Amino acid sequence: MKVRTFSTKELASVYVAAIVENLIQTHPSPVIGLATGSSPVDLYRHLAHFCHQGLSFAQVTTVNLDEYVGVPAHHPQSYHRFMDDHLFRFIDVPPDQIFIPDGTASDLQAACEQFDEILERHPIDLQILGLGHNGHIGFNEPGLALATGTHVTALSPETIAANARFFASPAEVPTHAITMGVQSILRAKKIILLAFGEDKAEAVQRSISGQISTDVPASILQVHPDVTFVLDKLAAALLGGEAVCTWG
Ligand code: GLP
Repeated sequence: MKVRTFSTKELASVYVAAIVENLIQTHPSPVIGLATGSSPVDLYRHLAHFCHQGLSFAQVTTVNLDEYVGVPAHHPQSYHRFMDDHLFRFIDVPPDQIFIPDGTASDLQAACEQFDEILERHPIDLQILGLGHNGHIGFNEPGLALATGTHVTALSPETIAANARFFASPAEVPTHAITMGVQSILRAKKIILLAFGEDKAEAVQRSISGQISTDVPASILQVHPDVTFVLDKLAAALLGGEAVCTWG
C-alpha cells in the first residue's frame, strides 16, 4: 500500500488528475471506476478542464461504484445526477460507455447481475475510491464487506445520518443502496483512494495500519498489490511512518 500525503486536497487532486490523464493518453480504451461524494469533486473538475483543453474521453469507459435504491436518476441527490453535474456533462465520454448501477430497477437482483456482467466485459484499469467515516468503500458497510459481487445493501445508521443533510425530509433519506462488492473493487488493476479532512483521519489510520477486518471495509485493500491512499495532511494526521511521502 502506498500513501501520498499533500498539504491540501487541491494539490492531492491535481496529482490524481495527472495519473488519470496519463492513463487516458497511454491506454487505447481505459476503463475507469468512479466514486461519488465530496472527495473526488476537485479531481472531476480538473478532468473536465483537461477535456476542455483537448484530452478526449471518447475511448474511455466508466463504471460507477454505487447508487441509492429508490432514488430516480433525475433526482438532485441521485449518484447519476451527481456524475452528470460534476463530470459527464463536461467531457466527451459517449453515453453508452457510462455504467452506473440502477437503483430503481423493478428487479434489483437482476440489476446487480447485469452490473456484474458489465464489469466482466469491462475490467477496471483504475478505480477511484472515497472513504466513509466508518471505513466503507462504495457502500460496502462494516460487517458486510466480503459480499462478493454487486449487491443491495442496507445503509448503516451512521451513513443514513451523514446523508440526511442532502434530503428534504428524513422520510426521503435512502436506507438501501446498490453497490459494487469488495471483490469487484479488488479486481481493479490499480486503486486510488482519496480521503481528506480530519474527520477521515481515524478511518484512514484503521484502514492502513489496522488489522484487516470486515469491521473496516477499506482495510481489505491491504491485500491488493497496487493501492495508493492519496491524503491531505489532516486525513493523514494519525499515521506514523506510513505517511512516507509528503508533498506540496
Ligand atoms: C458515500 C459514497 C462513498 C463515498 C463516501 C464518502 O458513502 N457511497 O463511495 O466514498 O460517501 O463521501 P465523501 O467523499 O463526501 O466524504
